[in-house]
Amino acid sequence: MRVLSGIQPSGALHLGNYLAMMEPMISYMDRSQLFVFIVNMHAMTSVADGEKLAQGTLEAASDFLALGLDPNRSIFWVQSDVPEVVELAWILTCITPMGLLERCHSYKDKIAKGISPNHGLFAYPVLMAADILLYQANTVPVGKDQKQHIEVTRDIAIKFNAIYGETFVIPEGEINDQVATVPGVDGQKMSKSYGNTIEIFLDEKNLKKRVMSIKTDSTPVDQPKDPEGCNLFQVYRHFAPKDRVEEVKRLYIDGGASYGVIKKELFEILWDLFRGPRLEKQKLVNDRGYIKSVLANGAAKARQIAMPTIEDVRWKVGMKY
Ligand code: ADP
Ligand code: TRP
Repeated sequence: MRVLSGIQPSGALHLGNYLAMMEPMISYMDRSQLFVFIVNMHAMTSVADGEKLAQGTLEAASDFLALGLDPNRSIFWVQSDVPEVVELAWILTCITPMGLLERCHSYKDKIAKGISPNHGLFAYPVLMAADILLYQANTVPVGKDQKQHIEVTRDIAIKFNAIYGETFVIPEGEINDQVATVPGVDGQKMSKSYGNTIEIFLDEKNLKKRVMSIKTDSTPVDQPKDPEGCNLFQVYRHFAPKDRVEEVKRLYIDGGASYGVIKKELFEILWDLFRGPRLEKQKLVNDRGYIKSVLANGAAKARQIAMPTIEDVRWKVGMKY
């Protein structure tokens, strides 16, 4: 079975990325053929600074490796290093109805947030479909916000297969309902593009500062509070031990939950959890040559797997004559 997912190098990776995508992907390593890639072309829809994008790409790669992704047990590369994906994206674009893209929440949400839309942002789901279909992926682990993009991918694949004959595997999204959407410090979806993230690799002082800045209401400690509606609890519950989560949940409901105490506890849990990866990352920072060679090897492997599919597509659509 082929499991595939990508992440944008548009800013430092955060707890939402970790829970919804990085951790589940790493846990797949021994169970399937794993494809992990850094979608630098998708990030161009929001980053128009070449140096920043290139730096973000290396950062995202080192974050993944530091968290335990083993390049010998996975295929790990940078999207643009397999340029055939752009060719496929154009071909798919030509059979994608406008209405399918106009309905996409992610596009509409970004516009609503005041992000000025470019054509790349609109066409984003088609490039994502090309990412998935080029490698004939079966399973795509993503966060809930990407569910619709997987549905678009399936629609495009079904349509292509209907027009040109059986070509693409129809992929399934894999969304962990327990994770759903992790809120950022301001209570909206935690996202690199909203400036509300808690980054995985912050130093001690900044991690503490960030956790302490999670927005909470002003209900006094002894008063009952709703754990489901509280940003802090919605982050805390993913990281604290299960029995402690239950205990804190009771304190919310019965009264006695102190936001300050819970924030401090959350900081300590996070600081501890990422200690090993932090050390690993420090080593990698000084070894760019290693990261680049891992990515180059990964791209060569990915390209080899992509070749038969793109050749088949070229013949079917009439690009070969
Ligand atoms: P961002 O929105 O921060 O730019 P990406 O678009 O690169 O993140 O997403 C990478 C992966 O992380 C995707 O599978 C996405 O669904 C998931 N993800 C991002 N933010 C969250 C969040 N707040 N909660 C859950 N999953 C998330
Ligand atoms: N759109 C995804 C996100 O923002 C990233 C992505 C691009 C992706 N191509 C993909 C995810 C292919 C899974 C498979 O999170």
